[in-house]
Amino acid sequence: MAARTKATERVRRRAGERDPLLRPEWQYIEHCNMDDYGQEDWLIVNRQRAEYLAEERATQALELLSASRNAPTFGYLINNYEHCLQTATLLHRDGHDEETIVTGLFHDIGFIVCPENHERFAADLLRPFVSEKNVWMLEHHEIFQRVHLHGFYERQDAEFIYAREQWLGHPFYDWTVEFVERYDIVAIDPDIENLPIGFFEPMVRRVFSRSPSPDRE
Ligand SMILES: [Fe+2]
Ligand SMILES: [Fe+2]
Repeated sequence: MAARTKATERVRRRAGERDPLLRPEWQYIEHCNMDDYGQEDWLIVNRQRAEYLAEERATQALELLSASRNAPTFGYLINNYEHCLQTATLLHRDGHDEETIVTGLFHDIGFIVCPENHERFAADLLRPFVSEKNVWMLEHHEIFQRVHLHGFYERQDAEFIYAREQWLGHPFYDWTVEFVERYDIVAIDPDIENLPIGFFEPMVRRVFSRSPSPDRE
């Protein structure tokens, strides 16, 4: 009920009313043009931003994923949200580490809203928090799928379909092949009982609370 009341209040808010601050002790910056912000203002914003991101980044990533939980499909037996949950469920079932499970959970978060480049969407979301191996896998999983999607692409030449072979011998080649075969192309099965999003939420929060690092390994 409390959540519903809050949602109703949000709908009633109009332009000119202030968005709530995360903490009551925080400050608004009283300028309507960022050109007018001074150094002191930016110090305040950046201090509040760091605390805000620490708390909200995981929350909003989970909300972004959950937004599609009731979405229809365009032919698969389960929708993209369930596909993401299923990938994470299968990874957990096979004993993969927390970071890899979270990577699987978000691997197709952009599949509907950014279909032209959904692999990059997920890679950029997780890049600060997961290993180079998992970022590389996310960035390349679509190309590595091509050998499995018979008849999907207009182009059927070997150079395109077997494009993954250019990375044969790459340190992350085997993991990307394994992810696609064992945790992606098979994660469209309505008879597999998915673990709920709440099961993965603490893992997401722990992974997102890692110190952002562009060179994590
Ligand atoms: Fe994908
Ligand atoms: Fe997928």
